[in-house]
Amino acid sequence: MSIVYMEKDKSFVLQAKEATYILRIRKDKYIEHVYYGNKIEKPVISQMVKDKGRASFNANPDDDGSFSLDTMRAEYPAYGNTDLRVPAYQVQLDNGTRITDLTYDSYEIVKGKDKLKGLPSLTGSEDQVETLYITLVDKLINLKVVLSYSVFKNENVIARSAHFINQGNSNLSILRALSIGIDFDHYDFDMLSLSGSWARERHVVRRGIVHGTQSIESRRGASGHSENPFIALMDKGADENVGEVYGFSLVYSGNFLASVEVDQYDTTRVVMGVNPFDFSWKLEPGEDFITPEVVMVYSNAGIGHMSRTYHRIYRNNLMKSKFKNMERPIVINNWEGTYFDFTEDKIKEIAKQASELGMEMMVLDDGWFGKRDSDNCSLGDWYVHKGKLPNGLHSLVETIKSYGMKFGLWFEPEMVSPDSDLYRAHPDWCLHVPNRHRSLARNQLILDYSREDVREAILKMLTDILSSADISYVKWDMNRNMSEVGSALLEKSRQQETAHRYMLGVYEVMDTITDRFPHVLFESCSGGGGRFDPGILYYMPQNWTSDDTDGVERLKIQHGTSIVYPSCAITAHVSDVPNHQTGRNASMDFRHHVAMSGNFGYELDVTKYNDDEKKYIKEQVALYKSIRKLIQFGDLYRLESPFDGNDSSLIYVSEDKREAVLFLYRVLGIPNTPLRRIKLMGLDPSYNYEIGDETIISGEQLINYGINAPDELLWGDYKSSMILLRAQ
Ligand code: DGJ
Repeated sequence: MSIVYMEKDKSFVLQAKEATYILRIRKDKYIEHVYYGNKIEKPVISQMVKDKGRASFNANPDDDGSFSLDTMRAEYPAYGNTDLRVPAYQVQLDNGTRITDLTYDSYEIVKGKDKLKGLPSLTGSEDQVETLYITLVDKLINLKVVLSYSVFKNENVIARSAHFINQGNSNLSILRALSIGIDFDHYDFDMLSLSGSWARERHVVRRGIVHGTQSIESRRGASGHSENPFIALMDKGADENVGEVYGFSLVYSGNFLASVEVDQYDTTRVVMGVNPFDFSWKLEPGEDFITPEVVMVYSNAGIGHMSRTYHRIYRNNLMKSKFKNMERPIVINNWEGTYFDFTEDKIKEIAKQASELGMEMMVLDDGWFGKRDSDNCSLGDWYVHKGKLPNGLHSLVETIKSYGMKFGLWFEPEMVSPDSDLYRAHPDWCLHVPNRHRSLARNQLILDYSREDVREAILKMLTDILSSADISYVKWDMNRNMSEVGSALLEKSRQQETAHRYMLGVYEVMDTITDRFPHVLFESCSGGGGRFDPGILYYMPQNWTSDDTDGVERLKIQHGTSIVYPSCAITAHVSDVPNHQTGRNASMDFRHHVAMSGNFGYELDVTKYNDDEKKYIKEQVALYKSIRKLIQFGDLYRLESPFDGNDSSLIYVSEDKREAVLFLYRVLGIPNTPLRRIKLMGLDPSYNYEIGDETIISGEQLINYGINAPDELLWGDYKSSMILLRAQ
C-alpha cells in the first residue's frame, strides 16, 4: 500500500519509492502539510507537528488563540481566511465577494490513476500507482474541490492536481486555481530554474532563496523560451550527486507560475500552476475546472537522481505515442540547407544522397504549401505549393521512399498569415480584440483554438494532407507568442479564459491528430524550444530543442534540457559552419559528438559536401545507429557541467550497466594545459570494462580514479571524444 490513512493521527501517509509525504486533517477542517522528504517507514506523526502561540497579527480561525492558519503549514492554502501568505486558489462569488471556506469533507484511496479530462497527464497501472482524493467543501456555496495525489510506488514521484466543481446554484468565478501548494518548515534551499531565450533555451539558473517571493512565470501564451515550467528546491550543498532535491514540473504548455515565498517564520511555500495573470474562469452551476498536473520528484542523491527519475517517468508514463520507447530515426531536415528556396528536384537529391549515407527520414520543412516563398504568407493554406512541388506530395513521397527513406513534413497549424486564403475567408478566426490593432510577429497571427469551428477546419486540412501521401513524421511548429488576447465567440465574462481555452483546444487537436495517425512520429517545435514542456511531450514524444545548432551553445542547452527531459525527446542536429545562429566554426567531430549525445540528425544540404566529408558522415551515421538505444534510453550521468567552464562531459549507461558511452568536450584549447582526469559514474564497480581500443579497466577504477583525457582533447579548439565502454 502506497497510501495509508492513520485514524489516530487523522493523517495520510504517502510512500513513494524512497520518499514519504504526510498530510493530516487538522481540527476536522483544515489540511495540514506535515512532512515531505526521505523515507520514514513508520512515522510517529505526533512528534512531527508543533505549534507555537503567536501575536494577534496572526489571527486564528477558531477565535480561541490555539493556532493560526497563518502559521499552519498548508496543503492547498485559501484566500480570505487568516492565512495571509500567497494562496493557491481564489474564487469570486456572484455577489462579488472573494472569500471561500473550503473544509475537509471526505477522502478516498483508489488503485491506479485517472487521466485528467482534456489535459495531458501521467498514466499508471493499478499495480504501479495509488491515488488519494481529498474532498473539500464550502457549504455556503456548495463548491467542491478535490485534491488528488497519485503516488508511484516504484519511483520517487507524486503527481498532484485540483478539481473544482460548482455544486451550488449560482455562478462562481475562479480567479486563481494553482495545482499545488506545499509548505516546507525552513528556507535553507537553493532554487533551480531553466531560463533563457530563443537560441539560448533552458540555461541552468541556481539562486539562494530569501525572504519574500521569488518566482518564474510565463505570460506569453506558451510555456516559452524564457522560462520552463519547472523549478527545483534543493539543499544548499546539493549538487549532481548528493543532497535532497525537490523537483516540481508542470504538465502544461501555456501561461504558468511557479512561486516560492519565504515568510516571517522562515516557512517556504511553493505554489505552481496556471498563471493567475489575466486569468479567470467562470463556473456555472454544474460546471467543473481541472488544474494541470504537477509532477513532484524527490531525490535524496542530488540533481542527477532527480533527472533520471523524470526521464523514466516521462518516457514511460507521460508520452502516449507508440514511439515512446522506440529508437528514433536519423532525420535530415532541409531548413538550414535551403530555407524557402527549394525545388522538388532539390529535395529529392538531398534525400537520395542522405539515404546513401544511412540517414532514415527526410523532413521537408517550411515552404511546401500555399504560395509560401518567404515567411510573409500562406500559413493556414495547408495545400501543396504547386510552383515548388508540381507533381504533388504523393509523387514526392513515393520517390523518396524508393531511395529507402521515410518522409516527414512541417506544419504550423496554430497560425494564420494575413496574406492567406484562410484569413481572407475568416478574419475573425484569429485571437484578437475588437477595434484593436492585431500585432503581427513573423508576419502572422494566432488562430483562435478556443473555437470549435477553427479546430475542426484545421483538423480537416491536416487530415487531408496526412492522408494524401505516406507521411511518417510531422514537425509541428509554433512561431509566435500571444498579444491582444481575446476571442470573438466568448462572452465578455469569459474573455479571461481565452489563453487557457486556447491551450485546451491545442491539446484537443493534438490528441485527435495523433490518435488518427498513430504511425506518425510527431516532433514538436516552437521556434526551436519555445514550448519544450511535459504538456506537449504527452502528445509528441520529441521536441526540436533549439534553433541554435551551434555545438558550443548546444552543450548548455542540452545540459539544461536534460535536467528534466529524456534524451530521446531532445532532437539535436549537425548543421553547417559558420553556424547560422552564432557564426562559429566548430569542428565536424565536435558538432557530431554534441548532436550524438541526443536524438541525432542533420540540418544541412548534404549535396554540397565533398566525398571525404560524405565518407565521414556515413561513418558517424553508422556509429550512432549502433549506440542510439543506449543514448536515447540509457541512464544519463552529467559529469562536468558546461556552465562551470570550458570542459564538460556526460555518460549514458545501459540499465544492466554493461554498456556505456562517454562524451568529453573542451571548447577552447588551453596553452600548456594541465592534464585532465574525469571520474565516471553509473558504472558497476565489479565489472571490467573494455574501453574503445581494447584497454580493460575495472569499474571500480573508472569510478574512483576515472580516465585521463585522451591527447586529442588537449590540443586545439572545439575538441571532443566519444568513448564506448563494454563490460567483459
Ligand atoms: C522555426 C523552427 O524552429 C525552424 O526549425 C524552422 O522549422 C522554421 N521555424 C521554419 O519556419
